[in-house]
Amino acid sequence: MKTSTITRSDRAHLKEPVTPSATGEVQGYEHVQRTPLAMDAAAALVSVESLQQLLADTITLRDLYKKHHWQVAGPMFYMLHLLFDKHAGEQSELVDLLAERIQTLGGVSIAMGADVAEVTLIPRAPAGRENTAAQLARLIHAHEVILLEARAMARATASSGDVGTNDIIVSDVIRTGELQVWFLAQHIITPQAD
Ligand SMILES: [Fe+2]
Repeated sequence: MKTSTITRSDRAHLKEPVTPSATGEVQGYEHVQRTPLAMDAAAALVSVESLQQLLADTITLRDLYKKHHWQVAGPMFYMLHLLFDKHAGEQSELVDLLAERIQTLGGVSIAMGADVAEVTLIPRAPAGRENTAAQLARLIHAHEVILLEARAMARATASSGDVGTNDIIVSDVIRTGELQVWFLAQHIITPQAD
């Protein structure tokens, strides 16, 4: 995409880290620290790995909602413009909840877009604008990816004893996702039955 007015040499300079000699990284992304939570260490490790996937996909869904909030057009413009932003806000709250759960369990939350893009299982959307039907279908598919993962995680955390994560998955991720899918699906125009 040719969108920037800055020059090639500017770009090279901007890629330089602020302090090239020291990255300041103190905990690797893969490392999970032991925490005083009276929880089985293996259970925490498995939860962190699954939460990273769920977080990457939730960040992607949040961004997909914002993309469509900006780019939606047509007869349903105003209602979908508002609905997509409401859902984006609710997904943003889930992003924070999932990221802080990962930190609570001793992990390092995935955070930046480039890293999220490598991990997410939600298909990449085009940079261009899609029509309303495609926007709705893409959002519903993204929700289904997350709901599938979340249901598997709900079962896994229930049996591993990580009930704190289980509560977030069931009460927040699954319930919010199911409700948002319902709202999206009601905007799909289907042929009337005779
Ligand atoms: Fe806006």
